[in-house]
Amino acid sequence: MSAPGFYASRLTRPGAVLAPMAGYSDAPMRQLAAEQGALWTVSEMISARGLMGGGDSEKLNLGRPYPGERERVVQLFGAESDVLAGAVARAEAWFQPAAIDLNMGCPVPKIRGKGGACLLQTPEVAYDLVSAMRQATRLDVSAKIRLGWDHDRSVEVAQGLEAAGAALITVHGRTSAQRYTGQADWEAIARVAASARVPVVGSGDILTPAQARERQRMGVAAVMIGRGAVGNPWIFRSLAGGQDDLPDARTRALTALRHAELQEQFYDDDTGRLTLRPLRKVLPKYLPDYPQLRDDLVQVVTAGDVRRVLRPLLEEGPDSAGGAADPAAITDPLNGYTLSHS
Ligand SMILES: Cc1cc2nc3c(=O)[nH]c(=O)nc-3n(C[C@H](O)[C@H](O)[C@H](O)COP(=O)(O)O)c2cc1C
Repeated sequence: MSAPGFYASRLTRPGAVLAPMAGYSDAPMRQLAAEQGALWTVSEMISARGLMGGGDSEKLNLGRPYPGERERVVQLFGAESDVLAGAVARAEAWFQPAAIDLNMGCPVPKIRGKGGACLLQTPEVAYDLVSAMRQATRLDVSAKIRLGWDHDRSVEVAQGLEAAGAALITVHGRTSAQRYTGQADWEAIARVAASARVPVVGSGDILTPAQARERQRMGVAAVMIGRGAVGNPWIFRSLAGGQDDLPDARTRALTALRHAELQEQFYDDDTGRLTLRPLRKVLPKYLPDYPQLRDDLVQVVTAGDVRRVLRPLLEEGPDSAGGAADPAAITDPLNGYTLSHS
């Protein structure tokens, strides 16, 4: 008997998965999630064509692991079997992923060809893509879908993907037409989980450990957390068996600073991410109970700036910062995201 694949072996333990999020789930965010016990993490989507077109530093950074990164899935976006097969081989050689995922959820056709959620209109194409990807690697190949393009056909699509060899299917419980409006339909996700033989991971609108546990009871193999993990890697600790309370403000400030330092260390290139500009939207989410810091946090350029802004919290003793915050203090994390890439 062959050894269990990556997904089967990770799913033997409790925990939740960090969602792929363009502009967010980069190496520093994945590192913080992994340290808190995420079952696995998924890269930002990477265009298969772009990967085959060459190795500019932007694409390399999308796929490049941080030193020692292990449980990380690389997500590819594309619509042509030969390009995807080539990109799988390249991603495997360059990025040392634990598994490869096909994006079937992005509602914005970014590149020529009809990848992302467009594949939900022509699922036969996606089945061919998964077969071609499987032939290009011995790693697990998975797919992440939405419920459908404009109506729910997720059970049918999941069964086709499974027949094509997908080792796991993630379902974001919205149609592509819905984008991010309304609420994720977890009844629909549960129907896919009940009808598929491979593990099904559910995605959509989980903000607290309690919500995650409630969703877990709906028959999914695991839940995936995206927006609710921005500024809150501790949600993975809770679901891996730890406590539910958020750490005190000093610990959260220290982690925000560490995120900034990891960012500076990882992006030692010319893509513009060397400055902390992309983190400006993230840092205030570590400290939602300190709205007075927001104006300064959204202007930082270096980790030194972050240290200066957070100094009052960093200098407090571990016990003097007001204790553990109420998770409900994280207000409205579903708003304010840049959704152009997703
Ligand atoms: C800013 C942003 C970027 C995203 N990028 C991707 C992506 O690259 N690939 C993908 O499959 N899904 C992407 N998604 C969808 C998420 O993986 C997830 O399915 C969705 O946000 C619902 O989960 P949540 O409510 O926990 O965030 C993105 C979502 C957001 C908000």
